[in-house]
Amino acid sequence: MASSRASSVLFVCLGNICRSPMAEAVFRGVVEGSPFAGEIQCDSAGTAGHHVGERPHASTLRVLRERGLVSAHRARQVTRDDFSRFDLLVAMDQANLADLRAIAPGNARATLALFRSFDLEAPAGAEVPDPWGHPIGAFHEVYMLCERAARGLLRSITSSR
Ligand code: 4NP
Repeated sequence: MASSRASSVLFVCLGNICRSPMAEAVFRGVVEGSPFAGEIQCDSAGTAGHHVGERPHASTLRVLRERGLVSAHRARQVTRDDFSRFDLLVAMDQANLADLRAIAPGNARATLALFRSFDLEAPAGAEVPDPWGHPIGAFHEVYMLCERAARGLLRSITSSR
């Protein structure tokens, strides 16, 4: 598991329209409902640039809305600056993690981790599967995985404070 001292987190997937904006909104909701509200910053980005400027996928927005959450995010691509701007970069799947490792500057400050590594009930190496092109049920599944991992991530970050 990654550093527990992070105060800024960047969630990363491929397109930044399905999983990582969902993870960002879910984690923000968990933080804001905790005693650590206002103490942890978060954002999301994609390893690819195909959807830059777009709002999250309609199914991501729908699932968030059903849970009382919103996202004003516009898709953006990960930059090398993100490795110094954020304490922790959290990848949704192994391919995202490998892509981040491939572009990480030598002096990167950020720690890299898989999101589900913070869910203590998830098997080692578990991923948040890509729901792109799948029906709404896949997005509900992503939400459930994000919620468990987000709670674990907040516990990890705050346990040493
Ligand atoms: P995401 O899903 O990485 O969770 O945002 C995807 C969105 C778009 C594409 C792939 C995955 N795409 O190939 O355009």
